[in-house]
Amino acid sequence: MSATRRASRRSAAAASSEKTAEKTSASAAGSIDSVMQETRWIKPEKDGPKHGSIPTAAKLKSMRSKALKNPEAFWEERASELEWFSPWTKVLDWKYPRAKWFTGGKLNVAHNCIDRHLTTWRRNKAAIVWEGEPGDVRTLTYQQLHREVCRCANGLKKLGVKRGDVVAIYMGMIPEAAIAMLACARIGATHNVVFGGFSADALRERIIDSNAVCVITQDAAWRRGSHVMLKEAVDAAVKGLKHVANVLVVRRVGVDITMKKGRDHWWDETLDGMNDSCAAAKLPAEHPLFILYTSGSTGKPKGILHTTGGYLTQATYTSNIVFDLQEDDLYFCTADVGWITGHSYIVYGPLSNGASIFMYEGAPNHPGPDRFWSMIARHRISIFYTAPTAIRAFMKWGDQHPAGHDLSSLRILGTVGEPINPEAWMWYYKHIGGERCPIVDTWWQTETGSIMISPVPNVTPMKPGTATTPLPGIDADVVRRDGTRCKADEGGYLVVKHPWPSMLRNVFGDFQRYKKTYWSEYPPAGDRPAYYFTGDGARRDADGYIWIMGRVDDVVNVSGHRLGTAEIESALVSHARVAEAAVVARPDEIKGNALVAYVTLRGASAKMSGRALEKLAAELRAHVAAEIGHIAKPDDIRFSEALPKTRSGKIMRRLLRELAAGGSISGDTSTLEDFSVLESLREDED
Ligand code: PRX
Repeated sequence: MSATRRASRRSAAAASSEKTAEKTSASAAGSIDSVMQETRWIKPEKDGPKHGSIPTAAKLKSMRSKALKNPEAFWEERASELEWFSPWTKVLDWKYPRAKWFTGGKLNVAHNCIDRHLTTWRRNKAAIVWEGEPGDVRTLTYQQLHREVCRCANGLKKLGVKRGDVVAIYMGMIPEAAIAMLACARIGATHNVVFGGFSADALRERIIDSNAVCVITQDAAWRRGSHVMLKEAVDAAVKGLKHVANVLVVRRVGVDITMKKGRDHWWDETLDGMNDSCAAAKLPAEHPLFILYTSGSTGKPKGILHTTGGYLTQATYTSNIVFDLQEDDLYFCTADVGWITGHSYIVYGPLSNGASIFMYEGAPNHPGPDRFWSMIARHRISIFYTAPTAIRAFMKWGDQHPAGHDLSSLRILGTVGEPINPEAWMWYYKHIGGERCPIVDTWWQTETGSIMISPVPNVTPMKPGTATTPLPGIDADVVRRDGTRCKADEGGYLVVKHPWPSMLRNVFGDFQRYKKTYWSEYPPAGDRPAYYFTGDGARRDADGYIWIMGRVDDVVNVSGHRLGTAEIESALVSHARVAEAAVVARPDEIKGNALVAYVTLRGASAKMSGRALEKLAAELRAHVAAEIGHIAKPDDIRFSEALPKTRSGKIMRRLLRELAAGGSISGDTSTLEDFSVLESLREDED
């Protein structure tokens, strides 16, 4: 057999997206080469922001410089826009790499997101307008949301959930997901939302790692007209776990499921008769609000821990300044609550601002590819926040779909999750925003908790493809490996030079990993403070705009979701026939990146025929889906007799990345142990 054989679903369009993709080869000088040049400017209308709630260009400039000079004073002002039960005594307590914000202060997130609006006219304002995939619509006013959250909080208490306990939430996009999160926040339980697209195994790992005592789920979720059997997955995930005492189940679809006596409880029956009010716990500012798992470059997902006061301060401030939320807006963020975007910009940030949020349950192309545009037109949605991968899919589905609906209610568009290609930006601007709506390209991470780099709509002049400049209060920059500042247009590493309120506080249960991953690349050195390492390559242009060039570690961004290649490799290797695997990304027009797995087989399997290999490739893809979830399924599987390695035995993923992208090997190959491996891999690509 030749060294590699491919069972590929390679997109023919990949090559064209390579043209716009940035090249990120690390050079010895400690900077990164950047080849992208984009010179278009989209300037705001002359009359600037229409509302008084966001700053004018001059005010923004002065806010930024004041905040850089005295960040603590700046954040103290932002924090005072929330309601606190007791004031803080210290704004920031920073002992590298441990941060505490607003120590001494007490507050409650659910109180700030709901109760404080009930004393105003907003009590009868829509908090959540929800549309189910089959087309059913529900609206919850702030008053109604309060009632539901209190009943759920009382239900959780009845099940024995206490302050400090971890509650796992594994649900689809139904209002009860937000209600469950807010109910946890109300009683001081820490939620751990696991994306409903993850498999039972992935859920189990996250339940075990967080030591959750209760799981909230639903019978099944609607997705493209069929059912995702969430409760079944929970049954498999919690099997034999003594620490999971209760499972609370929302009846959404009405399918038959098994309810285990004593452990499983229907949401409606449990909450029936519960008191409509439940005092919000007075929690210290550093009380853990949630854990959210994200991929790392080693096998195990990291439980990113966020706390209460600092997180809410920044989520509230950024929701306001980035989306310019007005009382009459209906704001639609298409993320799932299982990701950080759903936490900060569906639930906490917008509700804390008293906004009306629109929530949608299902797929963007069900029953047709115009579902989003139809909802925007029918509900008169005014702010729309989505991901570049979705925008590329909309482009592919065709201009006629948005053109067939009245999108004139829109006034601000946003993107998040990965770099947006300038062409996708222009399409979004033209076909969705009617060349009228500013686009806020927001850079941030699960770890940063809130938006860090973004234009301010109608104020910051935009260039397609850049998140522009850090928001006031954020000191982010592009530096070389040695920590010195990069010159204009010199590629380097994106860092944050000063702690910020919504920063992660820990990797749950693993402080050493927290320190090593985020704070060890740029530790304090002489006069220089420690810098937070984002893991992203970036370039600052001559106008000070930051262009993200992608991840510099073994984490890939597929469809706006970060996936650790190590996790997928472990899943592949757990298959009986696989000896070794290396997963890399190649550019893909729709998903941003597609996953390519190079796999070597064990013993006799290595002699398999082409057809048998095709079958095995399909089996391996299904195996990864079962182990992690569909999002992690490799797009291509390429079988190989060996993988290129360094003399110390490390797989050289950089070379595989270049091969997978269809290009030639341009980087340094001096550390490669056996050149013939590379030669045979290359032959098979031809
Ligand atoms: O590489 C950056 C990319 O997504 C990573 C964070 O992923 P995650 O924690 O899953 O959070 C996604 C939602 C906040 C970043 O390290 N990223 C996120 N937003 C952008 C981006 N890359 C370029 N431009 C963005 N606007």
